[in-house]
Amino acid sequence: MKLPILSKKDTLHLMKKILILLGLAFVCALASYFTRWESSSVATQEAKSELVFPERINRIFDKSCNDCHTPYTRIPLYGHVFPVTLYLQDHVEEAQAELNFVKWNEFTLKRQLRKAEEIIEQIDNGEMPPKSYLLLHPDAKLSYEDISELKKWSEKILNENE
Ligand code: HEC
Repeated sequence: MKLPILSKKDTLHLMKKILILLGLAFVCALASYFTRWESSSVATQEAKSELVFPERINRIFDKSCNDCHTPYTRIPLYGHVFPVTLYLQDHVEEAQAELNFVKWNEFTLKRQLRKAEEIIEQIDNGEMPPKSYLLLHPDAKLSYEDISELKKWSEKILNENE
């Protein structure tokens, strides 16, 4: 194959494009450095022992919810790249402001019961885990058995505290 020979004008044009791309890559790298995740976001086994749910429920939450609803986010590689970092951090913060599983024991009983109801409502409506998350984490999809386990768990705490 013969390579096309670029005219001087085309070469300058191409170099300009390359420089712009390099510039953008540099700005992104710099911005990524300044939007790093705090180390507390890194999942550790000991940290998970803070979670107070029965083992089978913990397993489901771990598979499908903990990345957002605990501080122990498993950050994907692309999650370290600006501006994805900012988007994910914001999303995870919002999720934890609504419901942080690590804080469950600090909730009042009333709040626990309300959250248990909301969990069932959200999974019944197929709103959690969010669709955008499932796209990149297909394994996080709740199975039929997962949903029925969660329902049993929620009903149990609701019935016990009627
Ligand atoms: C990709 C991040 C992400 C994952 C994974 C995720 N959530 Fe969420 N969740 C959010 C965000 C963000 C909100 C708050 C905004 C909203 O309601 O959409 C939220 C809100 C909720 C709420 C509403 C809380 C309230 O007080 O209204 C419940 C309940 C909930 N999630 C349960 C779950 C459960 C259960 C799972 C796992 C099966 C899960 N979430 C997985 C991000 C996530």
